[in-house]
Amino acid sequence: MNIRKLRSDFPALQKKWNGKFPIYFDNACMTLKPVQVRDAMDEYYNEYPVCGGRSIHKMAKKVDEKVGEAREKMQEFLGASSSDEVVFTRNTTEGLNLVANSLGFDKGDIVLTTDREHNSNLVPWQVQAKRRGIKHVVVHSNPDNTFDLDKFEETLCNNRNVRLVSMVHTANLDGYTIPAQEIIKLSHEHGALVMLDGAQSAPHKPIDVKALDVDFFALSVHKMVGPSGMGVLYGKQELLVELEPFIVGGDTVEDSTYEDAKFLPPPEKFEAGLQNYAGIIGSGAAVDYLADVGLPNIREHEEKLNRIITEGIKDMPGVKIIGPADPALRGGIVSFTVDMPHGDAHDIALVLDETENIEVRSGAFCVHSWFNYRKCDAAVRASLYLYNTEDEARKFIDVIGKTIGLFNP
Ligand SMILES: Cc1ncc(COP(=O)(O)O)c(C=O)c1O
Repeated sequence: MNIRKLRSDFPALQKKWNGKFPIYFDNACMTLKPVQVRDAMDEYYNEYPVCGGRSIHKMAKKVDEKVGEAREKMQEFLGASSSDEVVFTRNTTEGLNLVANSLGFDKGDIVLTTDREHNSNLVPWQVQAKRRGIKHVVVHSNPDNTFDLDKFEETLCNNRNVRLVSMVHTANLDGYTIPAQEIIKLSHEHGALVMLDGAQSAPHKPIDVKALDVDFFALSVHKMVGPSGMGVLYGKQELLVELEPFIVGGDTVEDSTYEDAKFLPPPEKFEAGLQNYAGIIGSGAAVDYLADVGLPNIREHEEKLNRIITEGIKDMPGVKIIGPADPALRGGIVSFTVDMPHGDAHDIALVLDETENIEVRSGAFCVHSWFNYRKCDAAVRASLYLYNTEDEARKFIDVIGKTIGLFNP
């Protein structure tokens, strides 16, 4: 990977703030965008900025052609059997909500999650519990924060009604990836479907939905160099056909009368109204970009940087890294709490930003439930991506050391 060359693709890395370039370590939230994605979107806005799916004129046909291409690129990226299994959404949250609302649950059906779910894969089940009487059961992790496969199997054996296992594939909390293959096999043996929240896995490692045999997989394209407000829900074709439509209206139906409507097959029945065509086309460019760089290279690069940071901060006073100790098990994420008499995680993040433009996340990262369960307020998270460098990792260690010293003189 030629990092210097890659970096030149990202205009946001070339802009100085207060006289200094940014060190962008908030990639789990949203990644920066390369010019290739912007150019693909510009082409739409400049040359054929019209609707797809409806009109038969040349510009509209061009939009259909480009959207079709983007869907095929996404199919290839995910290893899906057909581009009809790719539903464009606004984000992971929407994909997860689509399944939560559209799957035909019976009262008493159980949905299993991990104990480290983003609110987007927690709150939908709490709402469905209130609305439809499903039961949400949490499978707690091992003490070292790894997945407890025995407890999971025990939970499946003890609960006959598990309808869906919906779990975060790679956690935004600590970068840990659950053993998806084993989880899916066990779930299927017990008659349960599996949905993976792929918001933090798809950007960082190759995904093959067919090899995984996963039933649903949701991702956010804005976390993988793509346009903001774009996501994808993958679903096995036979399951998408069975799902009830979620948001309904124009473009979801083939025909309607005053009394009824005939829905189009998936993916159309889930893509209601005019779409973010520029975003869809930009999503195609994003997966082209990632394929060119190579997902295995990205994963290796992030692990190298994670090892540098982990080694550099793990013995600093008060620092406790969240998740497994081995950085190889935490991909591109280093989250940590700092036990100090003065200041908190937000103060650290502010100082990093104010002094050296190091942009990290502080707080509960939308995993409030995990923090509340442990009576812990907040942590700092550095999340890495393909354009981050070893120099940036070393600078981060240096500034973290100085910042902790500042609050603990
Ligand atoms: C693991 C995980 N799931 C879901 C989400 C929600 O993603 P979005 O806000 O793009 O819907 C995030 C966002 O950070 C995440 O990290």
